[in-house]
Amino acid sequence: MADPFIRFRGVSKAFNGRPVLAGLDLEVARGETLVIIGRSGGGKSVLLKHLIGLLRPDAGSILVDGRDIVPLDEEAMAAVRVRFGMVFQGAALFDSLTVEDNVGFALRRQGRPEAEVRRIVEERLAEVGLPGAGPRKPAELSGGMRKRVGLARALAVNPEAVLYDEPTTGLDPVMADAINDLIVETRERLGVTSIVVTHDMTSAYKVGHRIAMLYEGRVRATGTPDEIRASTDPVVAQFIAGRAAGPIDVRSLA
Ligand SMILES: Nc1ncnc2c1ncn2[C@@H]1O[C@H](COP(=O)(O)OP(=O)(O)O)[C@@H](O)[C@H]1O
Ligand SMILES: [Mg+2]
Repeated sequence: MADPFIRFRGVSKAFNGRPVLAGLDLEVARGETLVIIGRSGGGKSVLLKHLIGLLRPDAGSILVDGRDIVPLDEEAMAAVRVRFGMVFQGAALFDSLTVEDNVGFALRRQGRPEAEVRRIVEERLAEVGLPGAGPRKPAELSGGMRKRVGLARALAVNPEAVLYDEPTTGLDPVMADAINDLIVETRERLGVTSIVVTHDMTSAYKVGHRIAMLYEGRVRATGTPDEIRASTDPVVAQFIAGRAAGPIDVRSLA
């Protein structure tokens, strides 16, 4: 890949002596949507946390726009972090704050004028299909609406890349598909680079330009949705078949 926006090189991370990432290499092109699949507990969330400096690798480099972020101090890391919008698993909204205060949180922290914050918040809420939801509290919203608020919040500060951690998990198929549409629309409207972590293959095929499968701490396979669907790698084929077969057998996740 000529000039990737994100590049993991030989990234390793262990917790209590147990390797989770083991020399992982991965590149994400500018404007691309890369979907990361892999079993539960396989290190997908850990991978995303490395990109925003919530975790530091034991070895390897992580280049963002050509610069290694691993050696950065906390202040320099904070400057990198604002380039990413993160849509966390479970939306992770502040329940005591209104929707408007959740979406405007980072903007206010940047000291933007109040009128501007209000304008941006209303625009972002409209873009995710929730115009006028500002005064409501997260507890009053459905799971799908909370995910939309999470996306509006991630987009508030005009990130160059958006990271989605299990954006459709816990949603019914109709709501999940609405979120998939929103991920595609967001990329088309803003041209952002996107990384979507999921174990939902319907979502992976729909939103991904490319899919990468994480397995035993490395990228086992990458390809377009068609290539991954046709993969003859038994590990990939078995994973996909398991997801398509209906409810997840929890024993397969252990
Ligand atoms: N901060 C942490 N401390 C210790 N272990 C962790 C930490 N974060 C993640 N892990 C472990 O790393 C493994 C991968 O977790 P995770 O990335 O959350 O998996 P998933 O692919 O389901 O997102 C799990 O075994 C998890 O328990
Ligand atoms: Mg996870």
